[in-house]
Amino acid sequence: MSTTTVTYLADYRAPEFLIEKTHLTFKLHEGYTDVNSQLTIVRNPHSTHADHLVLHGEQLELLSLAIDERPLGVGDYQITPQNMTVHNVPERFVLQCKTRIYPEKNTALEGLYRSSGMYCTQCEAEGFRKITYYLDRPDVMSEFETVIIAEEGTFSTMLSNGNCLSDTVHAGKRIVHWHDPFKKPSYLFALVAGNLVCLEDHFSTQSGRQVLLQIYTEAKDSDKCYFAMRSLKKAMRWDEQTYGREYDLDRFMIVAVDDFNMGAMENKGLNIFNTSCVLAHPASTTDAAFQRVERVIGHEYFHNWSGNRITCRDWFQLSLKEGLTVYRDSEFSADMNSRAVKRIEDANVIRSVQFVEDAGPMAHPVRPDSYIEISNFYTVTIYEKGAEVVRMLANILGPEQYRRATDLYFSRFDGQAVTCDDFVQCMEAVSGKDLRQFCLWYSQAGTPQLHISDSYDAARQQYSLTVRQHTPATPGQTEKQALHIPLKIALYGSKGALALVIDGQNKGTETVLDIYQDQQTIIFEQVAENPVPSLLRGFSAPVKIFYAYQLAQLQQLILLDSDGFCRWDAMQSLMRIALCNAIDGKDNHAEQIMLVDTLKQLLADHVSMDVALLACMLDLPSEQYLASLYDKANPTAISQARTQLQQQLAIQLQPELLGCYQTLQDKIQGLFAPAMAARSLCNRALAYLLHINDARYRNLAQQQFTQVNNMTDQFAALRALVHAEHAGSIAQEALQAFYQQWQHETLVVNMWFQVQVTRPWGNVLQVVHELLNHTAFDARNPNKLRAVIAAFANQNFASFHDRSGKAYQFLADQIADIDQRNPQMAARLLTPLTHWHQFIDEHAILMRKALESLSQRELSKDVYEVVSKSLMN
Ligand code: BES
Ligand code: ZN
Repeated sequence: MSTTTVTYLADYRAPEFLIEKTHLTFKLHEGYTDVNSQLTIVRNPHSTHADHLVLHGEQLELLSLAIDERPLGVGDYQITPQNMTVHNVPERFVLQCKTRIYPEKNTALEGLYRSSGMYCTQCEAEGFRKITYYLDRPDVMSEFETVIIAEEGTFSTMLSNGNCLSDTVHAGKRIVHWHDPFKKPSYLFALVAGNLVCLEDHFSTQSGRQVLLQIYTEAKDSDKCYFAMRSLKKAMRWDEQTYGREYDLDRFMIVAVDDFNMGAMENKGLNIFNTSCVLAHPASTTDAAFQRVERVIGHEYFHNWSGNRITCRDWFQLSLKEGLTVYRDSEFSADMNSRAVKRIEDANVIRSVQFVEDAGPMAHPVRPDSYIEISNFYTVTIYEKGAEVVRMLANILGPEQYRRATDLYFSRFDGQAVTCDDFVQCMEAVSGKDLRQFCLWYSQAGTPQLHISDSYDAARQQYSLTVRQHTPATPGQTEKQALHIPLKIALYGSKGALALVIDGQNKGTETVLDIYQDQQTIIFEQVAENPVPSLLRGFSAPVKIFYAYQLAQLQQLILLDSDGFCRWDAMQSLMRIALCNAIDGKDNHAEQIMLVDTLKQLLADHVSMDVALLACMLDLPSEQYLASLYDKANPTAISQARTQLQQQLAIQLQPELLGCYQTLQDKIQGLFAPAMAARSLCNRALAYLLHINDARYRNLAQQQFTQVNNMTDQFAALRALVHAEHAGSIAQEALQAFYQQWQHETLVVNMWFQVQVTRPWGNVLQVVHELLNHTAFDARNPNKLRAVIAAFANQNFASFHDRSGKAYQFLADQIADIDQRNPQMAARLLTPLTHWHQFIDEHAILMRKALESLSQRELSKDVYEVVSKSLMN
């Protein structure tokens, strides 16, 4: 890669031309597709006057080109690998362009491609330019008409965005004509053609319009769409009730495809989904996967307003749609399920994944300043940190003002392509608050650290909290400014939460402290006893908190805090202290005793507790998270300490775990929340018990494996057996039986791959090599790559960080190979290697070596960007 172009936010210019209408005709042939486009183009009145038009276009075979019916000759235009420049164009004209593309050869799964015989598209972010020459940028919004033509009888289903105007047969060809009345950028274009079946339903909107809902799949999956349909209707109702947003077309379609780089895509009126994010059936789908389906259906549906009706001016504003929509889907999930558990899951992702990204060579702000390849910026920072930024705004404004501010946003900018600043300005306009300092959350990368200390003055009955904030430097940003951080807190006394009085004002028992300065002290008055502070309630900001809790204080919060997140967080702290002591070779006796004592109380009392929350509280902090607590982490020590503590807890909590497992057995039937919660607790208990070398527990798991009728319990039993070090032939038999039973369900086979490569003991790299040669493996299918390679590299800490460095080099070699076919997937698989900076030299050197071996090769822009940035110190 000799020439790399970097795109800068500061270079943004409005487009020179606009495309009023886009008329596309697709002629689908076996082996190739011809695309005829007719673009009604006008000069942008707000732009400078260039007399030449520059369009995007990649990997296109140009067949002909004309302006207002006049064919253009070689001197009239110029073509490079990325662009077409047309010289001397008038103020307003119709550009007609014929191109040929090869969907069957498209292995990058971007643009128009084929997946199990069906045609489908993926255009975000810059895939439309692989379909035809165009102004492929989100601030060019156009009205689309699409005609699809294929040999009669070849495809039962031929879809595009919007409404179907006609469907006719003429001279042996089927011709289907679609029109989308809403202007949209090219990245929201979609086309599907294949032999699909469809589940239909209706939704009547709050204003009384009838909407036709359709979910298209291959015939073999027709029984797995009911849950997605129900989720869709819930999402549509939720958006009406929560944001006053109603669906705007007469028809909403979802298509499930096997080969998809991402989870799903919000194309206007025609969402395209990875099968893994739409298909669900209790026999073959786990509870976690059900919840993922509900979430992704909601997410893509919510984009209809936050993304489609109002879109991004440029890709630097990606979080405008993704951050906002993740916040929306997260609130939707919280409303549909356990709010506390959802918050814990989100906080866990931020802490164990986003904080790691933010502390490493790939750190970038929620609104980045530059990129080489935009596909690399669909990151946890843009998505999850971006969602936290919107959540903080919602909390700063309060529910009533936040709703008025989003109403203003949706009405002020409807039909436009806008910026994150435009969004924040609506928040300011409604609340009258000055959010200029808050806006640093968009431009400043890195995770703020809050160091909190306190003191209690019994004579004055005063308690004071001192908060110091500091954000470590990130690549390209050495100087950091103080952020506006909403810190939600409560104070606990021996009898529960204390009344909070600040500056003579009564604040109830919970309050948000607005932290603005590098250092700030808050004084609480009329405090009758030295309290335990409950900090960052509800994870009120994406920051790291440092406060020196005593073990007894943590126990008090675990048992009594009214905030589910804080209870879980206190438990994580207790576990973390125990683990870090072990990792550092220190005694952790006191912590273990406290842990066992606390868990005993919780488990014995599980009937009176939120069972789903208790299940979360049993999880030890992940290895990845533990590593992030160190300047230079020793992965072997981390894995060992964690395995040992798991075993210790299993042994010492044996009766409680078994008791819990047994008493909950009559509550695990059914698809609703209480049964899901019971299953998650039972299966965590079972997994712990299998860490004990005792045939009774293996038999218990084997029994569960063979007797249950739902995938959650069957898979949990399989996992417990395969991951137990002593289960030997029982585990092997279960693995074989599972494959026998499910070999025809692709998504279940993926779980079968995943459970083997995440086994926490033995030579797993060997297993990975074997599975790569298994008949069910297919290196062109992204879900398979995720199930084997990504699962191994991201979810098998011990094996991936094997001292030999073989797994690092294995991953690099795989990436080099995958990069030839699918650069986006290759670049995403690289993430674990970019974390080299977290580890002791012995490992960091080997990880860098693997990255360096990649940099010697011919790489795509995607992989090049990640390799080169992650190797810069
Ligand atoms: N717009 C994205 C899909 C996308 C991302 C397309 C990157 C092209 C490049 C979609 O709305 C999305 O964010 N999907 C997520 C799932 C969601 C629940 C966060 C995904 O695909 O993982
Ligand atoms: Zn999205």
